Amino acid sequence: MAGEKGTMAITTNRIKEINEKIEIQKKPFGTVDGRSVDLYTVSNINGMEMTVTNYGCIVTSLKVPDKNNIHKDVVLGYNDVKSYVDNNYYFGAAIGRCGNRIGGAKFTLEGKEYNVTKNEGPNSLHGGSKGFDKVVWDAEAFKNETGGGLEFSYVSKDGEEGFPGTLTLKITYTLTNNNEFRIDYFATTDKQTICNLTHHSYFNLNGEGNGDILGHKLMINGSRFTPVDSTLIPTGELKSVEGTPFNFLKSVEIGARIGSDDKQLKLAEGYDHNWVLDRPEGSKDLFLAATVIEPESGRCMDVLTREPGVQFYSGNFLDGTLIGKSGRVYKHRYGFCLETQAYPDSPNKPDFPTTVLKPGETYKTTTVYRFYNR
Ligand code: BGC
Repeated sequence: MAGEKGTMAITTNRIKEINEKIEIQKKPFGTVDGRSVDLYTVSNINGMEMTVTNYGCIVTSLKVPDKNNIHKDVVLGYNDVKSYVDNNYYFGAAIGRCGNRIGGAKFTLEGKEYNVTKNEGPNSLHGGSKGFDKVVWDAEAFKNETGGGLEFSYVSKDGEEGFPGTLTLKITYTLTNNNEFRIDYFATTDKQTICNLTHHSYFNLNGEGNGDILGHKLMINGSRFTPVDSTLIPTGELKSVEGTPFNFLKSVEIGARIGSDDKQLKLAEGYDHNWVLDRPEGSKDLFLAATVIEPESGRCMDVLTREPGVQFYSGNFLDGTLIGKSGRVYKHRYGFCLETQAYPDSPNKPDFPTTVLKPGETYKTTTVYRFYNR
């Protein structure tokens, strides 16, 4: 027993020592909906730095070292909160209640049809017109044995954007001392509802605003994907990637086949699809969904998740009209997203893994973006 106590004391001291090296700074970022919002900058023991705001749980900056230890900001974003409020690109944001699209902006639960906000043609995208990316969250900074970060909380009212049930949410962002950006999601409801949360950073591992992402090499651990119709709603088919430009089982440059004459690429104007991850059946363990390598800088990113799918979006709708935080224009395909999630339109696809959350259950999932060099 004494030995155990001794070990604990050392561990506690060690945690204290590590935590003294982690810095969390807070400064005002403006006002939204009459509430002041802040920017929090967390730096880990390696000097990697993450800045987030409690407006939409947006990651506004992520400074990552390259192979020569040069730190660059690898996510797209703005300098001011107003630009985040005014624009609909979902830069760096938490997405919910339902990530990606719900076909016809409706679904049925317990025999009752629910109509949610149509904010993209006939469909609902990323939780509606005022999704979780557009609300002010409560935030509390923390340090623990793995690193430091923020715990965000928000209560989404019954009927918000048309979704049933009061959804009580907690999302933690941890910048670990292993250079990981880790997201843990928790939600409970008082009525049957839909819950499918994701993260929407646009990455450019060569630095934001510094060219397109077509030379990045991508591996996706999914041998099937969900083809879409002309409004980007999955047809329901789980199609093999074999012999298609969707085969990323071995690392390939994003740009290698993006212009090929493929019906699915044409429909989405590039990659904007969900991959069915090859995770062991029934497992909710963290699984390596994707790896991205940027050959010039040597920066690499692994994406790990407990979710069944990942949406790879190649920034097709970036059109050169946006000026980012360092004054650079964000042109076509200057960033990509890897959004871990349940498959799009799951609420209307009984054969897809469920996105239904019932009272008494806890929605609990994790995604890790891990950075390193080679
Ligand atoms: C979607 C894209 C959409 C983008 C919004 C992605 O998750 O798949 O179709 O345009 O988010 O910026």
